[in-house]
Parts: sequence; structure tokens; C-alpha cells
Amino acid sequence: MSDTFFITTAIDYTNGKPHIGHAYEKVLADVLARFQRLAGRPVFFLTGVDQHGQKVQQSAEKQGVNPQEFVDTLTASFVALWDKLDVRYDRWAATTAPSHKDCVRKILQRLHDEGQLYKATRQGYYSVRQEQFLTDKERGEDGQFGPEWGEVVFLEEENYLFRLAEHRDWLLHLLDQNPHLVQPDFRRAELRNAVEKLSGDLTVSRPKARLSWGIEFPFDPDFVTYVWFDALVNYISFAPGYDPAPNADLSEFRRHWPALHLIGKDILIPAHGVYWPIMLKALGFKDSEIPTLLVHGWWNIAGSKMSKSLGNIVDPDVLADRYGPEALRYYLMSDIATGRDADFSEERLVQRFNADLANSLGNLLNRTLNMAQKYRQGVLTAPSQPEHLDLVREALPVEAAAADYRAAFEQHAVHQALEAAFRLVAACNQFIDSQKPWAVAKNPDQAGLLDAILYALADSLRVTAILISPVLPKAARAIFGQLNLDAPFQIEDARRGLLPTGHQLGTPTPVFPRIEPSAPAA
Ligand code: MSP
Repeated sequence: MSDTFFITTAIDYTNGKPHIGHAYEKVLADVLARFQRLAGRPVFFLTGVDQHGQKVQQSAEKQGVNPQEFVDTLTASFVALWDKLDVRYDRWAATTAPSHKDCVRKILQRLHDEGQLYKATRQGYYSVRQEQFLTDKERGEDGQFGPEWGEVVFLEEENYLFRLAEHRDWLLHLLDQNPHLVQPDFRRAELRNAVEKLSGDLTVSRPKARLSWGIEFPFDPDFVTYVWFDALVNYISFAPGYDPAPNADLSEFRRHWPALHLIGKDILIPAHGVYWPIMLKALGFKDSEIPTLLVHGWWNIAGSKMSKSLGNIVDPDVLADRYGPEALRYYLMSDIATGRDADFSEERLVQRFNADLANSLGNLLNRTLNMAQKYRQGVLTAPSQPEHLDLVREALPVEAAAADYRAAFEQHAVHQALEAAFRLVAACNQFIDSQKPWAVAKNPDQAGLLDAILYALADSLRVTAILISPVLPKAARAIFGQLNLDAPFQIEDARRGLLPTGHQLGTPTPVFPRIEPSAPAA
């Protein structure tokens, strides 16, 4: 078993600009990866773009450019956005990369050699938008194919098929034996139902005559690879040390694999939940090497799906420019429960920033540093008297916050981890209100109490900065800077009492200037 936290996201289609759903998933993966780095674990974070397929070919044709030029332009907008949002991945998976195409071809050749592929003529309805054949299962209650399939045409075609159906019982057994493989639980139940109904094999080729923008088959140049088959392979083609040759040395690969795949709810069934584990099985992966799927929900707009036709697509680039990348990261991580849907609201983004960051945390930092400067020239003295130690221990639940935070991250529940961190912040603010350090400062007999209060507040801010660092890396560094501390952050340091007596604090400058709500630009 590998000790690396290997996390991947879905690779985004480059047939349009990145939207808020793409940004959510990449930021969530980045935050989960940063938490593991904070915990001292080796991390490998893979993300990228899905560049082939009919949709791209059609969009490029419409613009009169070649498909590679078309995807290069859009790919650049994804790369720039992840850079702006501080999404720090270890490798970039772009499916037009020669190494990836080579790996896909070798996989096809191997599956062909081993009798996992066969050629057959198929006729039936085909969704151009989803690039797949439809069966009666896809018909709505009225017997028609719904609008989600876009243009549906009748086709009769010869293609290569991959043997799926014969692995149905294996997959059911795998899911039953390894409940953790699909999270949350209700998604595993959905997948299980779908697998029970699995019949038929997967068409993994498209005739070049109607689709040329894909990876050519190694043993039959009249065909290109079905875009989902191509895209799923990214998880191994870009993994360190993978080689599809039957007897390859995979020791480097196994130091990283299996991955945790972070995906949206729409691509669990059938792609990630059915095709992918069966593809891996066909490639000789053992049951213990089948990756885990962490399935997140969707951001909707006022209860509806975001869509081009409704004209309600939220542009994360605009929001990052308007409010700052960290304000956007904080909103995306705090206002949704992992696995569930949420409604996106720019108003909520501003409210949450102002309430949690500008007011609670920002004021705490400002008040603490100002008081420390005013009463002690910024120099801390660690409490020594038992009654002072008891007082701060009772008022400021540092250990409980850190423990709840870690437990939440183990469940990938980032919103709960943030809640735990902000409970500590709230406790600090209440502590200031109840202890009234400005009054204590007037009484020279209470010098020790004042020291204890200032110390506990600064020390709790240090812990808070560590806890928020996966979500707000820049703000955490700024807080550390004002506390006159050096990063790197480590989760082990999220406990009380690590500041030495005599530690000199810095002076406050606002880290979270309040956002004045303005009318969103039309
Ligand atoms: N290219 C495929 C994935 C191939 S993975 C081998 C794809 N691309 S996508 O661009 O349509 O979607 C990328 C990811 O964004 C998916 O995980 C999808 O669920 C997610 N989201 C798309 N819209 C979303 C929201 N409105 N909200 C949250 N995530 C959303 O599917």
C-alpha cells in the first residue's frame, strides 16, 4: 500500500471556459492536498484537461480554427485560473500530450491482444452531445430521449467494443466488500443499482469518417478512441511510473497508487463507477488497487442548473478579480457540504467573508496585536500560575478545535473543519469581551493575568493560522508574518503553548479588509 496521498480531479473539457463548478472541484482537491501536506504526508495532486472529442471538433469548426489551436487557447484559460486561485498541482494532465496518446494506444493494443476488444456492427440512436449510443434505459417516461441528450441521430456503425458486461458480478462484489470505494454512501447505493442493470459492452472507438479529433487506434487507423476511454486513462498515464506493458516494473507507480478521484455527481455513472474499475481490472489491477471515488455535489443557481441556455454561468475569474482569490476559495469551501449540492450566491460570498474573515478573525488579530503592543510593546510572557492556565484552558478549546478539525478532514468535510477553526476564533473574541483586558491593564496587581490573556490570544491566532492554511494559504502566511513567526505550517503545531516567553509580536495590518457590497456587474 502506498503512503502517498494521490489525489486527482476530473479533467475539465476544453470546449468552453472554466466555470464555478470547475473551480470548486480544483480548489477542493487543492485544499485536501494542502491538508495532507500540513500533516506531513507525501502528496501527489494530478489535474488537467480533457481535450478530445466531437464537441471540441464541432466548436473548432464553427470558429474556423484547427482543434489543437482551439483547445490550446482554452487550456491556457484553465491554467491561468488555477494559478490565480493558488491551486497547486504536481502534474498537468492534458490529453493531447504525446505521452498520454502513446499510453492510450498501448492500452488499446494490449486489450486487443488479450481479447478484451472485439469489432461489431451496432445500430441505434446516438447522442451527438454526449457522444454515446443510447438504449431504451435512456428514454424518459414519455418514451423520448430528453433534452439532456441534445441532437439524437440514428446510426449504423462498425466499431470496437470493450467487454464490460462480463465483469458485472465482479464489480458488484467489489462494491459490497469495499464500501469506502465510493463516498458518500448514498452514491455507492446509486452506483450499485446501476451496476445491477449493467448489460452490453462499451463502444470504445469512433469511425474517423465522422470524428477525427481523437487518438487513433494503433491497429486500425480508421478509428479514433472514444473520448471517455481516452480521458479516464489520464489517471494512470500521468501517474508517476505507470507502464501498460503486461510485465512492466510498476514499483514506482505503486508508491503512489491507488488514487483518490475527486469527481462530480454527474460523472459517477457510468464513466467512473462502471467503465473505469472494469478497465483497470482488464489491465490486471488487483481489487486492492481500485481507486476510491469521492463524489461531490453541484453548485446551482437559485435552485437551477447552471447552463449556457439559461445564461446563468458564474465566472470564477471575474469573482476572483472582484473579491480576491482567497475570498472565493473561502466561500467555495465553507458554504457547501462535501457530497451535497449548494446554491451559489455572490451575496453569500460577501456576507461570509465579512462575517467570518473581516469581522471575527480580522478583528481578533487586530485587537490582539494592538493590545499586545499597547500594554506590552508586543512582547509575550507565557502564563505560569495555575489559575491563569486553567482560565485559558477552559475558555479557549484549542485542542478540541484541532481534533474536530482533523476528524472533519478525515471525512473530507472541509466546511466542518472550517467551522471547528472558527469556533476557536469565536471563543477568543468572547474571551476578550468577558475578560476586558483594557480593564485588567489598569490594575498593576493583575499583570500576570493580562500576560496570560495576551499570550493565549496570540497563541490561539497562531493555531488558527495553521488550521486555515489549506483553504487560505496567503492569509495564513500574512497572520504568521504579523505574529512574527516563520512558516512552514505543520498540523502538529496546532496545540497550545508553543510560543516562547519573550516572543516579540509584529504590528497589525488588515488581512481581510471588509468587502463593501456593491451591485454585481451586469
Ligand atoms: N471531461 C469530463 C471528465 C473526464 S474525467 C476522466 C467532464 N468534464 S467537465 O468539464 O464537464 O466537468 C468537470 C468536472 O466539473 C466534473 O467533475 C463535473 O462534475 C464538475 N462540475 C461541472 N459542473 C459543476 C457544478 N455546477 N458544480 C460543481 N461541479 C461541477 O465531465
